[in-house]
Amino acid sequence: MPEGVKYEDLKNQVDRVSKAFEQEFGRFARFRTSADGLSLPEAESLMRELGEARTRHTGKKSELAAVKKLIGRVAPEERASFGQLVQQLEAEIASAVEEVEATLRDFISSAQIERERIDVTLPGRRVRRGHLHPITLLRERIEDIFVSLGYAIEDDREIETDYYNFDALNIPEGHPARASQDTFYTTDGFALRSQTSTVQIHAMERRTAPLRMIAPGRVFRRDTPDATHNPMFFQVEGLCVDRGITMAHLKGTLSEFVHRLFGPEIRTRFRPSYFPFTEPSAEMDYSCFKCGGAGCRTCKGSGWIELGGCGMVHPNVLRAVKIDPEEFSGFAFGFGLDRMAALMYKLDDIRLLFENDVRFLEQFN
Ligand code: DAH
Repeated sequence: MPEGVKYEDLKNQVDRVSKAFEQEFGRFARFRTSADGLSLPEAESLMRELGEARTRHTGKKSELAAVKKLIGRVAPEERASFGQLVQQLEAEIASAVEEVEATLRDFISSAQIERERIDVTLPGRRVRRGHLHPITLLRERIEDIFVSLGYAIEDDREIETDYYNFDALNIPEGHPARASQDTFYTTDGFALRSQTSTVQIHAMERRTAPLRMIAPGRVFRRDTPDATHNPMFFQVEGLCVDRGITMAHLKGTLSEFVHRLFGPEIRTRFRPSYFPFTEPSAEMDYSCFKCGGAGCRTCKGSGWIELGGCGMVHPNVLRAVKIDPEEFSGFAFGFGLDRMAALMYKLDDIRLLFENDVRFLEQFN
């Protein structure tokens, strides 16, 4: 062979090129027919790497290119068959690469279309609006009414001492009223308040007389939950202390309140009752907002619904906060929000209010 180019050596060289390509192509070969299972970024980087591999093996600086340059130097009688050999290898590489490229290209373009597809005919997603809890809705209505009557809104602590929950409210140790309001105690002797009446004491200590305030808030009792009881519930406390306050003011205020809440046709009545912190004490009822007093399911056939307790502030309570009962008198009241909400929203179980099921809660606006 002229100029020392041996056919055998050349053939070995072609084989080497072929092997090297095969080895590198191994990881692409499985995508000859399908690119399923790849992600779009994976397919894109495979595509890039395949292009680089092709350049490495068939580009201008590749070994294959070097081999091709030698064709002309092969002995004329062997030139044709050597040329064929090289061409065949080149064609094999090209078709293998193209096959994989075609699969990847198809895969990438359909994945891109999928990614960019926006169905403009789909209805927009409605922004979910939050809403207030039914107890909050009722509390705000009540607050609005009392604020318009000149009352301040007091918000106070839920963890109390015995003094504020009982003693200052004329419920000394051993008094039976303590037993009916058993509550939860912390290990260091604090109690979760069992009534919002505690706020009467805080408010009078802080502001003295005269004052008018309501105090809506959470209270706690050791009650077993059932359809009408929860160990945690809401009350609204009210207190008005001034010179010359009488039971007429109490009755007028609470009547005005139920008129504004339920309508001017609502009637009210007092029943004598007992609370340690009021004297005299009463329970106040209002005529049923549903049937107008005829008797229905809402008022359990009686025509009346109980609002809550009330009365004239006991002189001992005023003395406990250093207000002179000779100069000042006052009335107080307290009622529960949960049962009132249950009646207004026709719930047959007040536990529903605190199960936090949105499907239930979002019905009230
Ligand atoms: N604190 C009482 C209770 O939880 C309710 C109450 C009754 C409050 C009469 C008052 C009142 O302010 O005057 O049962």
